[in-house]
Amino acid sequence: MTGLRIERVDGSAKLVDWRYVHNTIIPTAVLSLAEVDERARRNRLAVAYLGEVVVGCSTVRPPAADDAVATVIARVLPDHRGRGFGGQLYARGLAEARALGADVIETCVLESSPEGLRFALDRGFVETERYVLPGDSVPFIDLRLA
Ligand SMILES: CC(C)(COP(=O)(O)OP(=O)(O)OC[C@H]1O[C@@H](n2cnc3c(N)ncnc32)[C@H](O)[C@@H]1OP(=O)(O)O)[C@@H](O)C(=O)NCCC(=O)NCCS
Repeated sequence: MTGLRIERVDGSAKLVDWRYVHNTIIPTAVLSLAEVDERARRNRLAVAYLGEVVVGCSTVRPPAADDAVATVIARVLPDHRGRGFGGQLYARGLAEARALGADVIETCVLESSPEGLRFALDRGFVETERYVLPGDSVPFIDLRLA
């Protein structure tokens, strides 16, 4: 049995894998490959694999120069949930954000994902904002680690 392997997005194959997970989980805000490429330059993106199978991905938005706020988001494809992979992705992202100097950690979930909201609340996040992006129909929920 192979364990989870989390790899930094550092090339086009992993961009494609990251995009696949993102767009499967957030069909209301699909990203083009060019948009993912742009995000990979700003953020730390990673993909999680079980053997050669893509099971999840993560985003760490590093703190800006004038604050110490980072965003950490874990995503696991529905067929692979409930086996600790989300927890591993989140723990790695949190450690990365702290190493980048973050004092405050934020995350974001879709209102339509009760698992995501429970996952974040169970890890100490509290809701700060709920909003609908222009052109979207499903609200996003922003949360901050208390
Ligand atoms: C949130 C999300 C990443 C969780 O992924 P996951 O792989 O199911 O996460 P885990 O398996 O680590 O944890 C899920 C639950 O399974 C339980 N679990 C963990 N390991 C387990 C195991 N080996 N066996 C059984 N249950 C287990 C955990 O206790 C956890 O319960 P909780 O949510 O009540 O805390 C996934 O649902 C997702 O991608 N949601 C959409 C994106 C999102 O909202 N992300 C949240 C932003 S951080």
